[in-house]
Amino acid sequence: MARDHGFHPVRITRIIDETPDVRTFSLDAQFPYRAGQFLTFKACGTLRSYSMSSSPETDTEISVTVKRVPGGLVSGWMHTELRAGDVLEVTRPSGSFCLRAGAAGRPLIAYAGGSGITPVFSLVKSALATTDRPVVLLSAHPSAQISIFQSSLDALAARYPGRLVVRHHLDDRHGLVTRQEAVALVPRQAQDADFYVCGPAPFMALVEDTLTARGVAEDRILIERFTPAQPSAPAPSAEAVVLPVTGSVTVDLRGQRRTVPQRTGETLLQSARRAGFTPPFSCESGECATCMARLTVGEAKMHVNNALADDEVAEGWVLTCQAEPTTPDVTVVYEN
Ligand SMILES: Cc1cc2nc3c(=O)[nH]c(=O)nc-3n(C[C@H](O)[C@H](O)[C@H](O)COP(=O)(O)OP(=O)(O)OC[C@H]3O[C@@H](n4cnc5c(N)ncnc54)[C@H](O)[C@@H]3O)c2cc1C
Ligand code: FES
Repeated sequence: MARDHGFHPVRITRIIDETPDVRTFSLDAQFPYRAGQFLTFKACGTLRSYSMSSSPETDTEISVTVKRVPGGLVSGWMHTELRAGDVLEVTRPSGSFCLRAGAAGRPLIAYAGGSGITPVFSLVKSALATTDRPVVLLSAHPSAQISIFQSSLDALAARYPGRLVVRHHLDDRHGLVTRQEAVALVPRQAQDADFYVCGPAPFMALVEDTLTARGVAEDRILIERFTPAQPSAPAPSAEAVVLPVTGSVTVDLRGQRRTVPQRTGETLLQSARRAGFTPPFSCESGECATCMARLTVGEAKMHVNNALADDEVAEGWVLTCQAEPTTPDVTVVYEN
């Protein structure tokens, strides 16, 4: 039996306007979660993930903070249609953009751009409350009017003098974030720190490049992507390269079954789309399990699996956004 990756009704208890296009939704939900994790919502006939801005250690309610994307389906609907008392369907929390065990005393350096501050705010609150780690945060926004959590962060810095340093970067005053600005946050002993990065793709690329060039080890840089890094096929796995595949992928979704020729380097999710289906997915990074399906014929290898337990994998469940066939013929069945 697959674990509980299903959807649960939760009631909105209150809605807070953070900026003209950002709202926080507090939820009447009792899920255990870790700072930095996200919920996946079923809304408008599709799925979207939103990170918790609340901290399990310092906040009594679970909250998500949603920026309205111009023309965006779900964020637009959440902003215009939702009211306190409404009920939403969400998964249990998931994600691995979290504080690491054994990091006591290690500096936490965070770079957040725009709505990327959401999981970072959660991480910062938890790190301050549960550890003695020094925390340095660069919070970048286009202007002070739309700087998310600016006053809350200032209040937190005042509450933890010497522990939390926040630099509010405002594009209209400082221009776009530069490498020099990113590198200025890196402590002299760079290997002693953990680095958290979340924001628009160019912002994250700049920070990641800067940290790597400064010699920070890859495993010390934790990145949360709100949009997939590579919307196209991920790099083929070694197995896929070694085994040129000429077989087929059969997809079974909501009672319909279609077969397409197998393509090396293509995930099962991509094959299902190529077959003309609109299969479920949200994060496309192996975290949320909304794309899970069961292999009934053949085998596949997942690039990343931060959502399924070992016994589920043993039963044939795969994250289709991460799984590439390793046998010539595979059949994948979406069971929800
Ligand atoms: C793990 C994770 C955590 C996340 N956490 C947060 C969070 O805490 N806060 C947050 O605000 N977001 C977060 N996101 C992003 C969020 O899930 C959504 O991607 C975001 O809200 C946009 O969804 P949407 O339905 O509003 O927009 P979509 O409808 O998906 O549109 C996205 C973009 O495509 C454009 N577009 C839409 N339709 C068309 C069309 N027909 N033609 C051309 N362009 C089009 C839109 O203009 C927009 O620019 C997270 C994402 C992930 C994966
Ligand atoms: S879409 Fe989230 S794990 Fe595949």
